[in-house]
Amino acid sequence: MRLGLMGELASGIAHEVNQPLTAIVNYTQACLRFIQAEKPDLSKLSSILQKTHDQALKAGQIIHHMREFVRSKKIHRSTADMNALIENAVSLSVTDLKQYNILLTFNLADDLPAIYVDSVQIEQVILNLVRNSIDALKNLPHNKPRKLFIQTLLNDDHFIEVKVKDNGIGLGQSSQKKILTPFYTTKSSGMGMGLSISQSIIKSHDGALYFASKPGKGSTFYFTIPVRRKSDDAQ
Ligand SMILES: Nc1ncnc2c1ncn2[C@@H]1O[C@H](COP(=O)(O)OP(=O)(O)OP(=O)(O)O)[C@@H](O)[C@H]1O
Ligand SMILES: [Mg+2]
Repeated sequence: MRLGLMGELASGIAHEVNQPLTAIVNYTQACLRFIQAEKPDLSKLSSILQKTHDQALKAGQIIHHMREFVRSKKIHRSTADMNALIENAVSLSVTDLKQYNILLTFNLADDLPAIYVDSVQIEQVILNLVRNSIDALKNLPHNKPRKLFIQTLLNDDHFIEVKVKDNGIGLGQSSQKKILTPFYTTKSSGMGMGLSISQSIIKSHDGALYFASKPGKGSTFYFTIPVRRKSDDAQ
């Protein structure tokens, strides 16, 4: 499964790195032209060099992100409580929630069985979903209440289901098709990796990640994790 994602990643990376590289080629050509002038405009030159520098950094970050992703994939499972993982993950976002005036409510089932997971990875997934919701909410008009809702429940098939719901900007049909693809982002500072990494983590835990969304109404992201099996105790 991860190898499949690698293929997509590789072509995504080729595309992504190509953009800053093309920009660098254009900027350096411009620099060369400036230098050849009789009295080179040093401030212009310096501003183009700065842009060149920024683009090179950007290309480096893309590669860095890929290497992180490939490296840190060993799963360290232990017994965990989903509600506690949610509380941990959310505690990392309280500042943003406050800053953007987002009202967070919970409906956490209090009788959830234990799960056997890599807690760091599952917290990462929750954090990715919460951060995406915050991004979807933070630019709403001021008179519109910004709501984030997190729910856990045990479904019939012995899966714990986690639901992260916002009333943010939502997603149109065409972007819905793309958001799970590596590097698809609509944010100026986004990498477009949050959801594809989250999906890969959930799949490696034998769960599933899915969503429903309406433009202007909001989005709901769900993921499932199987409850701890008897056979896990033997390991
Ligand atoms: N809750 C949401 N509401 C609306 N759009 C969303 C939501 N979650 C994700 N998206 C859309 O899906 C895109 C991809 O999300 P993803 O988390 O993979 O990357 P990102 O948030 O752009 O960057 P990052 O790598 O930092 O997570 C986002 O850019 C956004 O357009
Ligand atoms: Mg994200």
